Amino acid sequence: AKVGIIFGGKSAEHEVSLQSAKNIVDAIDKNKYDVVLLGIDKEGRWHINEQSSYLLNEENPKLIQLNKSNHGVAFIPGESSKQWISLTDGASLDQLDVVFPIVHGTLGEDGSLQGMLRIANLPYVGTGVLGSSVSMDKDVAKRLLKEAGIKVAKSVTVTRHKLSSVDFTEVKERLGLPMFIKPANQGSSVGVSKIRTEQEFYQGLKAAFQYDNKVLIEETIVGREIECAVLGNEEPIASIPGEILPQTDFYSYESKYIDEKGADLAIPAELSEELTKKVQQASVEVFQSLNCEGLARVDFFLDDNGDLVVNEVNTLPGFTRISMYPKLWEISGISYPELINKLIDLAIE
Ligand code: DAL
Ligand code: MG
Repeated sequence: AKVGIIFGGKSAEHEVSLQSAKNIVDAIDKNKYDVVLLGIDKEGRWHINEQSSYLLNEENPKLIQLNKSNHGVAFIPGESSKQWISLTDGASLDQLDVVFPIVHGTLGEDGSLQGMLRIANLPYVGTGVLGSSVSMDKDVAKRLLKEAGIKVAKSVTVTRHKLSSVDFTEVKERLGLPMFIKPANQGSSVGVSKIRTEQEFYQGLKAAFQYDNKVLIEETIVGREIECAVLGNEEPIASIPGEILPQTDFYSYESKYIDEKGADLAIPAELSEELTKKVQQASVEVFQSLNCEGLARVDFFLDDNGDLVVNEVNTLPGFTRISMYPKLWEISGISYPELINKLIDLAIE
C-alpha cells in the first residue's frame, strides 16, 4: 500500500512533528508500505518526497529549539497554503491508499487536516474531524469530560474580547496559587506559564494569547503525572501507564525537548495493579467521550486523594525518540513497526 506521511506544518509544534515523522519513517515496514513523504513547511507550503525530505534532514542540535518566530503564525491564513495544489505536479493525493498525518497542534491535530483528507476521500490514521477538534480545544474537551462524569482541573476560560475584565484577585480566590495559564488550543506546553504573582498572571495571559484567542486559567493539581496510550476504534485498548517525573518547575516545552535533564519518564509507572486498571479504564472512557479513533494519549494527574484528574488528550501524540506513546506500547507488547501496522489497519478497516 502507498502510505502518505504528512508532517511539519505551520503550528508551533513544527519541529516536534519533524522528529515524530523521522521515527515513523525509520520504523515503518518498507516491505509492506511504499512511503510518500508530504512535508509542510512553516509557511504552509507542501512538498513531496525528495523536495520534502530536506525537512527531515534538518539538523536539530539540541533536539528541537522552539522557533520563536513561529508564534501565532497559525492564525494568519497564509496565501501559500493554497500551494498544496502543487502536489499535483506529477503526484496527487488520490494515488495514495492511506495517509498517516503526524502534524501536531493547530491545523494538523485540530480537525482541519482531517477535514481536508475526508474531502479528498482518503483514509487516514487517527481521530476524525469532530473528535480531533474537541480534543484539541482544552475548554471544549473539559466541558465534555465533565458531562461524562470525568474529573478535570477547575479552570476559568478567557476569550480575547473578555480579556480586559479578567481580575487577578477574583481568579486567585477561585483557583488558588500557583495556577497555570495555557492557550486553549496548543500542544507541547507551548505558551504555558506557572503563575504565582499578579505580575506573572498578566504576563502569562499575554504569552498565552500569542497563540490563541481563547485561554485557560487552571488550578494546580498536586499529584503525579500519569500518561496512558489508547489504540483502537470501537473497542479500544489501553497500554500500561507511564509517569512523567519533571525535574524542573513543570513539564514545559524546554523540559520536554531541549533540556536533557528536563524530565525523566518512568515506564511503566509504579502503580498498584488496581490503580493501573483504573487508569486504563479511565483512558478508554476519555477516548470514547471525546470521539477519538485510532490512537490517543490521555494525560492524567493522580491527586493526593488517589483520584484521577484528566489533564488533556492528545489525538496525534508525539512519536519522537523521547515520546511516551510508542514507548508505552513497546512495554505493553507492541513493537514500533507493529504499532504502525496496526494504526494503518485501523485507518482502513
Ligand atoms: N503535543 C505533543 C506532540 C504530545 O502530546 O506528545
Ligand atoms: Mg499535548
